[in-house]
Formats: sequence, structure tokens, C-alpha cells
Amino acid sequence: MSHHDPNEIYPVPEGRAETALINAERYTQMYRRSLEDPDGFWREEARRIDWMTPFTEISDVSWDKDDLHIRWFADGKLNASVNCIDRHLAERADETAILWEGDDPADDKAITYRQLYEAVCRLANGLKSIGVQKGDRVTIYMPMIPEAAYAMLACARIGAVHSVVFGGFSPDALAGRISDCESRFVITADEGLRGGKTIPLKANVDKAVESAGDVDQVIVVRRTGADVAWDETRDVDYATLVAGQDANCDPEPMNAEDPLFILYTSGSTGKPKGVLHTTGGYMVWASMTHEYVFDYRPGEIYWCTADVGWVTGHTYIVYGPLANGATTLMFEGVPTWPGPDRFWQVIDKHKVNTFYTAPTAIRALMREGDEPVKKHSRASLRLLGTVGEPINPEAWCWYYRVVGEERCPIVDTWWQTETGGALITPLPGVTDMKPGSATRPFFGVEPALMDADGKRLADNGAAEGNLVIARSWPGQMRTVYGDHQRFIDTYFTAYPGYYFTGDGARRDTDGYWWITGRVDDVLNVSGHRLGTAEIESALVSHDDIAEAAVVGYPHDVKGQGIYCYVTLMGGRKAEDEDIAEIKAWVRQEIGPVATPDLIQFAPGLPKTRSGKIMRRILRKIAENDFSNLGDTSTLADPSVVEDLIENRKNR
Ligand code: WT7
Repeated sequence: MSHHDPNEIYPVPEGRAETALINAERYTQMYRRSLEDPDGFWREEARRIDWMTPFTEISDVSWDKDDLHIRWFADGKLNASVNCIDRHLAERADETAILWEGDDPADDKAITYRQLYEAVCRLANGLKSIGVQKGDRVTIYMPMIPEAAYAMLACARIGAVHSVVFGGFSPDALAGRISDCESRFVITADEGLRGGKTIPLKANVDKAVESAGDVDQVIVVRRTGADVAWDETRDVDYATLVAGQDANCDPEPMNAEDPLFILYTSGSTGKPKGVLHTTGGYMVWASMTHEYVFDYRPGEIYWCTADVGWVTGHTYIVYGPLANGATTLMFEGVPTWPGPDRFWQVIDKHKVNTFYTAPTAIRALMREGDEPVKKHSRASLRLLGTVGEPINPEAWCWYYRVVGEERCPIVDTWWQTETGGALITPLPGVTDMKPGSATRPFFGVEPALMDADGKRLADNGAAEGNLVIARSWPGQMRTVYGDHQRFIDTYFTAYPGYYFTGDGARRDTDGYWWITGRVDDVLNVSGHRLGTAEIESALVSHDDIAEAAVVGYPHDVKGQGIYCYVTLMGGRKAEDEDIAEIKAWVRQEIGPVATPDLIQFAPGLPKTRSGKIMRRILRKIAENDFSNLGDTSTLADPSVVEDLIENRKNR
């Protein structure tokens, strides 16, 4: 592996600054104004959205934990689906809104803005006909097919709040998310199709609904045509529901602060949180960041490889690009099927201009060598992006040199489910790049660093600490659904007056930001966010497991791997079958994304005398770093550490 100078700078590629929407001068001027005259800045910027009733108020925010509220453009009214569809009809009704590429390379289709309008209106009317009302929560558990986007936009059109659950989650995980938001409606498909394999979505919903209780209707898209169990009183065929519905549906005027969606995400403790985003501020943020970060121009083909089950799919497959009238590519498959050149083949097939993916995918494809990439021309590419986890410089350089042929800037966008869209990111015509750095804050974003004692570090010069954001931005989440106190406790209590991100970061002498990873008990496995507590609770729900502790460790492709320390009941010694059994158990409890990578049986875990597990020690052992285990003298039984070291799992 080559050595990388962390300060090596890759300048904005030749000619790019001249043609970009934003150049360095404009960035500096706009960024300064966004902080010094936020009202003026946002009053103008929010005009990118069509308002049914214009707003007069800009922001009303308090991060004081006794009076925490976040409101943007609060007296304005709008509808997100109108912004994503109707307003483009006059100019681009026959242009492609969604370019769908199926799992099978022979399967694709183009949906124009007019067709999108009709599909969304029909479904919106269909939803109303079965009793969905404004404010109702609708769970969407779908493969990557256009109907997933129709479902989101149809909910938005009638003011229902969607909660998309990633199709890779288990029935149990789905059930928890259905009951947490008391969702009475589920939209799903008979089966999903990925990499030539089917996923039993409808069967999973059937199981979930059994335990989640109060679901009235399940709408089922026929994707594969598989025979699925059918409950006549509950299940509704999608095609039947929309057939005969009017292709027009008056959009519900929504207050800017009415909820648009809930999206569950893992935290360091307890069950996943329902991150709630509202309509006005989110739409402004989605549209604005999509345009500036991707330097988006009308007519371009834009591809974000995320799944709509994650926030990246919400903001950068559906709401951002469609708000901007873009052609957004939606891909049903996986990067390595039928061959390791699938991404590059799709780029040539559809003449993709912007390609946005995750570091884990880049690392996996880098392992396949340059040949699968070079087999395809990629001549259409103008811009590359990454998201989801820190990218290692090796992967960055491969992406830049081999995939982008040194002509495409890379936007390494740092953000979170909570932030609605990118907060720290290069802009293609502005920012000289450093491999692995998310570079500089976006407009209106004021990042800061905190030390362990809660003191804000100086804003100039090099520093490292916990990353906080010092002021609100329109795309910020508004609450944890059904648990405002948890919202306050999680994000606004550690550093009063600041939003705490859960990430560590470093700022270098050039003012560049480097995200160093989570500082809480959250793992980032292949760009998927998982709470160690969630995995531990899945483990201990197994009859044979007495105790479990989960930590992350560096993994070449996944970024982080899942390392589980497990104590069996009765101190029983583990057999080989136990490992397979436990892995299968966690898959079944949470989903394949949470499958443990390494399981170490431990007769005892390192605990303080008060019974608290010392994770710091477990992390060090999982990282194969025994040099600095810290003080182990406070352990109730210091000898457990030796056993743990001796029996650690080598990779
Ligand atoms: C966490 C948020 C952002 C949408 C997808 C993930 C990590 C995200 C980067 C990046 C370094 C990153 C952070 C963050 N992360 N992007 N460019 N560089 N780390 O959303 O599931 O809410 O996860 O992903 O640790 O806190 P999420």
C-alpha cells in the first residue's frame, strides 16, 4: 500500500471553477453572509421552493434544553410533491424524472415527469380511498423500484407522514418501527430482487404485522409475481388500488413545520430513534445542497447509489434531485452482480454525469482491480461523490485516478440522518481536495470542536475534539418522534447550546475538517449505522447467551466490522456450531447488515466493581492493540483481560 501525505492537495480540476455554479469568491461571500446575515440569506435562498403561502418568518430556534424548539419559515405553506413534480410540468413534462435500472441489466425504464405526476396522484387518491388521512403514518418497506418513490411522494401529497424501513431489515426490526409510530398502513412488494436473489418482503411484513398489531391495510406491489399469502380483509393489490383512480389529486397545503417523514436510525442506547423531518426547511436544504454540492445543471443524469431506506436515498435520490427537476437514476441491484463492472456499465449505458456512492462500495470494487472499470468509457462522468463514512486516502485516490481519470472532483459529503443533507463538503468549483477530508462547511453551517470538559476549542488553527454545530440550519431534524425528551438528551445536553453530532473531528491548519468517526457506541458497518446496544440486546435474547458486549474494529472493506464478546449460559464452552447459530440469530433479529463478523467466547467480561462493562478495553483488544489498555486495576476481576487477549480473534 502506498503512503499518503495527509496534506497533499488535489486542486479543483482545470477549467472547473470557471464553469461551476459557485466559485471560490462566491463561496466566501455567500458563506460569510449566511453567518452574518442569516435572515437575509435564507429569505433569498428559500425562494428556490414554491410556496403556496409565502413565509414571512425565517427562523425561531432555541437549543435551550428547557425550551427546545426549531422552526424555519414557520408561517409558510407548501407541498413537497408539488415541488418535486407539478412545478416542472410546464417546462419538462416529457423529460425523464426517474431513470430506473433493474437488477437484471436487461430491465430498465424511464419515467417522465408527466408519468410521475399521474402515478403519484393515482396512488395518493388510492391511499385516501382506503382511509389514509393527513398526519397518518405510512410505513414503506420496498425494494428499489419506482413505486417506492411514488409511495413517498403520494404520502407527501396528501400530508401523510412516511416512514421508510430499509428492505434489508428483519420482520422484528420492521415490527418495532411500525409500532413505534403507530403506523396503520404498510406499502410493500411481494418480493425484492437484488443480485439475482429474491427477498421475501411480503412474508416479512406478514410476520411483522402479527406482532406489531394495529395495521389496517397492507398495499402490495407485484414485483416478481411470486405467490404470497393473502389476507383478503387486510391486503390490497397496488395495481388494483390505483387502477381507476383519478390522475389528478389536489395537493394538501402543508405548514412548513408539518412533518414530512420519520426515518429510524440507531443511537448509542436503546431502540432506534424516529428522526422527524418537517417540510419547509428540509425541502430548502435538500434542493439547495443537491444543486450546489453536485453542481447540478438541467439535463444532467444524476445517480446516487443509496437505498431509499436510508436518508441518503430520501434527500439525494428523491427529494433533492426531483425538487431541482433532475433525472435521478434509481438502481435496484448491487455493485457486483452480474459482474464487478456493474456500476461502470450502468454509467455508460445511461450516460451518467454525477455518481455518488459509499466508501465501502469503492473499497470493494477497488479490490477487483482497474480492468472492470477501464472496460467502460465513463466519458459522461463530471463529478464523483462519497458519503456515509470516512474514506481512506487509498480508496479516495483510486476513485479519483481510475474512476474519474483525474477530471472529476470528488465531493466527500459529511452528514447524518439527523442533518437532512450535507453539512461539511467540498464544492466542486471551489474546494481544493485532500483525500479523506470532508473539507469545509456548507452555507449556514457553523461547526465547532469541544474538548472532553465541554469547552469550545479555538476556532482557528489545528484542533481535535468532539464535533458540534453551533447554530441551526433549515434541514435539521425537529424531534425524535414521540419522544422529544430523548431528542434533547441525545443532542443538546452534552454541550449546552450546541448540537452534538456524535462524531469526533479534527481541523487542520488550512481549516479543513476531517471526520475521525463516532465517539459514541454507534458502529458504521459498510456505511450502515448500527447501535452496539441493539446488537447486544439481540444477542442476549438468545436462550444460550448469558451476556454480550459488542464493539467495532477496523475492517478493510466494511470500514468497521462487528466484534462480539459472548458469555454462554452456565459458562458452557462454545462449539463451532454456536458461531454459525449466533450469526444466524442476529441476522434474523435485526437483518443481514448486523451479522457479526467475529465472535469471541468469553468466560467473563471486564467490569468495574459497580458492574459497568469497560468497553474501552474491549475495543482495544478487538483492534489488536494491547499496548495501551489503560488502567485495569479498577476492574472487579483483572484476570479476565488476560483470557480475552489470549483468545482474541485474529483476522
Ligand atoms: C454518520 C451518520 C450521511 C448519510 C448516510 C449516513 C458517518 C457520514 C461521512 C463522511 C466521514 C461520515 C458519520 C455520521 N459519516 N458521512 N463523508 N465522512 N463520516 O447517515 O446513517 O445517519 O450516519 O455517518 O459518523 O455521524 P447516518
